[in-house]
Amino acid sequence: MEYIFSLEIIYLIASVTYIFGLKMLGHPETARKGNLIAAFGMTLAILGTIFLHQGEVASIIYVLIVIAILIGTIVGWGVAKKVGMTKMPELVSLFNGMGGASAALIGLIEFHHYAGDQISILTIIAGVIIGSISFSGSMIAWAKLNGTLNKPLRLPAYNIVNNTMLIAILAFGAYIVYSGIDSQLYLYIIFFAALAYGILFVMPIGGADMPVVISLLNSFTGLAAAFGGFLYGNMVMLTGGILVGSAGTILTFAMCDAMNRSLASVIFGAFGEGTVNADPSQKSAQGTVKKTTPSDAAILMNYANRVIIVPGYGLAVAQAQHVIHELELLLEKKGVEVKYAIHPVAGRMPGHMNVLLAETNVDYDKLIEMDDINPEFQNTDAVLVVGANDVVNPAAYNDPSSPIYGMPILDVEKSKSIIINKRSMNPGYAGIENELFFNQKTSMLFGDAKDVLTKLVQELKNM
Ligand code: TAP
Repeated sequence: MEYIFSLEIIYLIASVTYIFGLKMLGHPETARKGNLIAAFGMTLAILGTIFLHQGEVASIIYVLIVIAILIGTIVGWGVAKKVGMTKMPELVSLFNGMGGASAALIGLIEFHHYAGDQISILTIIAGVIIGSISFSGSMIAWAKLNGTLNKPLRLPAYNIVNNTMLIAILAFGAYIVYSGIDSQLYLYIIFFAALAYGILFVMPIGGADMPVVISLLNSFTGLAAAFGGFLYGNMVMLTGGILVGSAGTILTFAMCDAMNRSLASVIFGAFGEGTVNADPSQKSAQGTVKKTTPSDAAILMNYANRVIIVPGYGLAVAQAQHVIHELELLLEKKGVEVKYAIHPVAGRMPGHMNVLLAETNVDYDKLIEMDDINPEFQNTDAVLVVGANDVVNPAAYNDPSSPIYGMPILDVEKSKSIIINKRSMNPGYAGIENELFFNQKTSMLFGDAKDVLTKLVQELKNM
């Protein structure tokens, strides 16, 4: 009986829930349940650690733990309940930063206790460096995403400065480990230098490249937590950390792929150069813009055989996911085949459009990933682009000077006609003009996505 309830068994159960939870996050239908299962495992691991801990613990520690848990639960629950879908990446960054800070704090506290044990000191130094970079980097990412820091800040020769600083931090860390020196001062130097590096590392990065950085920082936090788990011989912390670290790394590669960036250029290169805030007036697309009305757009779609909807960030801003689903169902009733084209970085976080549309119970089979939908555009009668811009910008193919050059895009241009809904001619996140708006096949349907789609639905109902 005692064996069944031992801490190891609880940790094993918790680790298994993390693995299953993560696996279930891979599909929108199971994602919610996966999240709950993993959260259950985490709760079990926390309770197990508190109540089955070996050795004497002063009762004040229990009081402090309960207070910390209460504060964390109330704040975390409140913030997560209130956050809008468009603000999710900020929240992810903030939570991620907290994970990094926790991992770094473990190192700061435990350093003295492990003096002389080279492997443990190596683990501690690695945890402090990675955790601190992850914390300060995530805070900057958070400030960038919520608009507080809306310009990439590039100091002169920032790449050289950053890379030199990183090498110096690693070399100093190696010196502490190798020399076996027991100096809290040295540890604080590493800690503050890594914090500064995290800031300098994220500051210059342009907006369009932020997803890569966020998932990279996420993997750093996982790695830092795994070092903590290794230090304490705590299997559940190790498993959790490794899972977060490897999932974050895989996502980083997937994001790099989707945005056509190499990981080396993320870490060492001129990353994000010229992306956000590129001056839209620098290269002005020529031509005239054709406007359309909800009634004309409704006629076009009503008589189409195949329609592809391209959702983007604007759909999330307008909270127009329910009305777009209504439009889709209405068109299908009229015999039109409707699919959604999902670009991997549409919106402001990985899977943003999938999550948004899942909220309205859109059939998952209709959400088609970029590589699968691209060959279908040429056989499509009408494409309805809703609040998307960069992910359909042909400059990615045609303009080597464009900051998004080389990024794979949805081949909307190949369809027979294009309706683009947005509120103005303003650029999207990458801050660049879009020649698709001037394409002869394109009609601009200006207005807030929710208003315009509601009118479109009304027009279709009247037909
Ligand atoms: P964007 O290029 O940002 O374009 C969104 C468009 O939506 C804007 O041009 C805006 O035009 C329009 N819009 C805003 N509010 C609207 C509303 N209420 N109704 C109708 N339209 C509205 O979005 P995208 O095409 O989805 O591309 C995503 C961009 O974000 C890429 O550059 C990507 O790299 C970047 N990014 C992605 C992620 C991830 S992981 N998904 C994370 C960070 C950044 P108006 O102002 O004229 O309405």
